[in-house]
Amino acid sequence: MAVERTLAIVKPDAMGRGLLGEILKRIHEARFQIIALKSLRLTKAEAEGFYAVHRGKAFFEPLTDFMSSGKVVVLVLEAENVIARWREVMGATDPAKAAPGTIRREFGTSIQNNCVHGSDAPETAAFEVGYFFSAHELL
Ligand code: RTP
Ligand code: MG
Repeated sequence: MAVERTLAIVKPDAMGRGLLGEILKRIHEARFQIIALKSLRLTKAEAEGFYAVHRGKAFFEPLTDFMSSGKVVVLVLEAENVIARWREVMGATDPAKAAPGTIRREFGTSIQNNCVHGSDAPETAAFEVGYFFSAHELL
């Protein structure tokens, strides 16, 4: 099993509700190493670039409005198999369908406002980490 990196985002709904500490606690409990972390507010154009794979879908406009509506925290996590394991900690996209105990099941309020993001494959993780962090921030 390979050591991987993934890009996690604490989304504006979670930041606005004071859930950053709770989500960081779960990252620590899962024993993921935090390689880098920053707080920022995405512009609409930056949110569109990040979610470019979803351009044209019905939820693209509301999603990119939502993602640019307030502060987010972006993190690079490292561990063996962390891409799949962080998605397990997050739970399914729709909080109503997410497994009990997952972040989205416990704190998500809609399929859009689901508190957290995680990369879904090594290629998307590389793109997404590079979207927010330069090489000197990842040493
Ligand atoms: P993410 O990329 O944020 O980690 O979430 P995901 O892989 O579980 O879901 P994805 O299909 O990539 O969708 C990206 C985000 O778009 C919003 N969404 N809304 N209204 C809808 O039907 C709908 N579907 C997706 C969610 O915020 C989802 O996390
Ligand atoms: Mg996704």
